[in-house]
Amino acid sequence: QMSNEEMLERIRSIKEQMGDDLFIPGHHYQKDEVIQFADSSGDSLQLAQVSAKQQAKYIVFCGVHFMAETADILTNDDQKVILPDMRAGCSMADMADDKQTEEAWQELTALFGDTILPLTYVNSTAAIKAFVGQHGGATVTSSNAKQMVQWAFKQKKRLLFLPDQHLGRNTAVDLGVPLEHMAVWDPIARKLEFEGDSEEQIRVILWKGHCSVHENFTTKNIEQVRKNHPDMHIIVHPECKYEVVQQADLAGSTKYIIETIEQAPAGSKWAIGTEMNLVNRLINNHQDKKIISLNPFMCPCLTMNRIDLPHLTWALEEASKGKNTNQITVPNEIAKNAKQALKRMLQGTR
Ligand code: 13P
Ligand code: SF4
Repeated sequence: QMSNEEMLERIRSIKEQMGDDLFIPGHHYQKDEVIQFADSSGDSLQLAQVSAKQQAKYIVFCGVHFMAETADILTNDDQKVILPDMRAGCSMADMADDKQTEEAWQELTALFGDTILPLTYVNSTAAIKAFVGQHGGATVTSSNAKQMVQWAFKQKKRLLFLPDQHLGRNTAVDLGVPLEHMAVWDPIARKLEFEGDSEEQIRVILWKGHCSVHENFTTKNIEQVRKNHPDMHIIVHPECKYEVVQQADLAGSTKYIIETIEQAPAGSKWAIGTEMNLVNRLINNHQDKKIISLNPFMCPCLTMNRIDLPHLTWALEEASKGKNTNQITVPNEIAKNAKQALKRMLQGTR
């Protein structure tokens, strides 16, 4: 068992030894002990963009499984993408599988014919991205969802948005689609939930998935902040529920949240509705501002947190020996179609 000091030392020395053969991307939700070693930190879009440009032999991805899959799809066959802990999944991505998606597609196309374009949040499995790519659709991230939904509406009258109903709903509302023109597809009941008068009106079909971290931010939390700190601004991630995003002052991706706080004047006050590690980092880095978590009980993403110092040390140790332990590989057929969906996004949002 290595001490923390020994692990830090080991990581530094492996990074030096491997040089350009190693690249470590890190998502903003990663722990400080991990993110300090990231060669590039960013939101999901930035990490997809930097991974696509990488030449390194080993990409040790500090994030969750779907991000590592994306990196594998966007890099060459001789590059290895490693996930330091295989249990670092994403509960939202697991809410849509390819079989359920095929089922939904059959039902929906029977109802609406050839009027639907599928879009998927990058927080989805490679198989879902492949499905979407095969049907002319694209991936989106929280940074470019608005642009990509506009892009989709230029081609088809309707869209199917997987797997996060909240990002889908918040984005569509932002673009002026009324709630009455949205329906929810429940993949478990295999049913379309719609309360409007005529199905013909439906423009957006939302997959019934969500992020279990961001669902913890509630309108109750907002009421409390408004009552206790009337001069506090509230900024949330668009994976939060519709009511929460509506009542907040600002909403955007992790990159947007960070930039907003960085640009805010000293002395300003902020309640942030996103993952704990990022909120804590912002609190520590901006001591001239008053920052709290919108939910007073900090909300960690348990799977993001599975990547820690011991797992990173171990993964780097293995890679430095030329082993491909914990390699994430997307089968060629899936990768080919998924790449189509990713490319449409990366080209559309350069
Ligand atoms: P972004 O970094 O794109 O805002 O994504 C948030 C997230 O939940 C990643 O899992
Ligand atoms: Fe998935 Fe939510 Fe964790 Fe992001 S924060 S990885 S969407 S569970």
